[in-house]
Amino acid sequence: MPARSMEELVALCKRRGFVFQASELYGGLQGVYDYGPLGVELKNNLKAAWWRAMVYERDDVEGLDSAILTNRKVLQYSGHEATFTDPMVDCRQCRARWRADHLEGGRCPKCGSDDLTEPRPFNLMFRTQVGPVEDASSTAYLRPETAQSIFTNFKHVVDATSRRLPFGIAQVGKAFRNEITPRNFIFRVREFEQMELEFFVEPGTDEEWHETWVQERLDWWRRQGIDPNRLELYRVPPEELAHYSKATFDVMYRFPHGVEELEGIANRTDFDLGSHTKDQDSLGIDASVEENPDSNARLAIRDLQSGTWRVPYVIEPSAGVDRGVLAVLNEAYRVETLDNGSTRTVLGLKPHLAPVKVAVLPLKRNHEGIVARARAIRKELQALGFGRVLYEDTGNIGKGYRRHDEVGTPLCLTVDFQTIEEDDTVTVRDRDTMAQTRLAVAELPAYVGEYFSAGAGS
Ligand code: GAP
Repeated sequence: MPARSMEELVALCKRRGFVFQASELYGGLQGVYDYGPLGVELKNNLKAAWWRAMVYERDDVEGLDSAILTNRKVLQYSGHEATFTDPMVDCRQCRARWRADHLEGGRCPKCGSDDLTEPRPFNLMFRTQVGPVEDASSTAYLRPETAQSIFTNFKHVVDATSRRLPFGIAQVGKAFRNEITPRNFIFRVREFEQMELEFFVEPGTDEEWHETWVQERLDWWRRQGIDPNRLELYRVPPEELAHYSKATFDVMYRFPHGVEELEGIANRTDFDLGSHTKDQDSLGIDASVEENPDSNARLAIRDLQSGTWRVPYVIEPSAGVDRGVLAVLNEAYRVETLDNGSTRTVLGLKPHLAPVKVAVLPLKRNHEGIVARARAIRKELQALGFGRVLYEDTGNIGKGYRRHDEVGTPLCLTVDFQTIEEDDTVTVRDRDTMAQTRLAVAELPAYVGEYFSAGAGS
């Protein structure tokens, strides 16, 4: 049972240290959030799961980590400077600005007036200046998608790795969009992260690869604990397609505020490599692209048999990290009523996503022998490298269990008098079943190693 409201998720995120409003001390910065101690772990785990599935478990994808600051020309030739806009209206009464397609009933959500200007395009890119001189030549942008630098690095990667088609380049990183109306917590923000793959294929095989990637990505979201009943596939109609796309499927998820896009999977054809390449005329580019006198590289692949150069087509699965975090939190959140009538809040996260994998609790926080044994166990398990192991010194085991249920810790180990005085065993308590078993400390590495590696490939 997912969270009942966005408010519950927001409250949990703040209370337990997942997500905070950025710059809150000074009134905040709208559409910008910080990830706290548990949020950073969850986010890193989600990104690591994506990287494992997209790079390590395949043999046809390379990674990239490129700069955020982007030469203006990249975003001119990509089409973003001219077309990366949302329609904006002003309220003539209260002067608020809104995204025209987010208005209900043609009225200002702030003051209710219907005295609005005609929609006009507002470019979403954050413009900045590189170096101390402010003129047209120093203008740069914060990237609005990680994809463009994958295209502009295409030749470097091909030359460095000798890859042939089909192959992909994956990247996880920040993107920036000056959204007119950021909203719904971390769903629509101005600074966010994307997990993007550009998968380069022979023209003509693109539609088949597009279908393959749609299925791969749906499967992956299910493996992150997303209930398929809350996932939908939306074929974007031709009039709504981005300027580079021949066809796009959006993976839609039922967020607490409604069904919205979690990931887009586009067939970008040869539009981007074609736009950024030199020698356009000789390359038989299918997409209609502007002439490019500025590029100094040919972004194409040579067919070894015929010797001809051809610009590959691109299939692009592009997922939002922040939306992914919101979706997995929403899926995992549940409030259970126990037999004694009390309730407990549980984050039933998949083990590979849990911010804390194991909490080690001493029964008595002032007992030297128990504390020393608990700390030693923590250190030994931490060294196994499957994720964060925490020493939890609350002194109240029941409260410790509840706290860890609420943040999704799959296993709690309790060190007590029996551990140090009798048989060196600990209590292993399972988050989901609340079942407790005793296990020898010597068996713990194998037990927890097995527990977490079982879901490691997710
Ligand atoms: N390179 C293609 C691209 O950027 P997009 O549909 O504009 O396509 C891809 O963005 C994904 O990035 C979206 O599905 C969403 O998950 C995430 N995203 C886009 N804008 C966002 C925003 N303002 N806040 C949070 N996530 C966003």
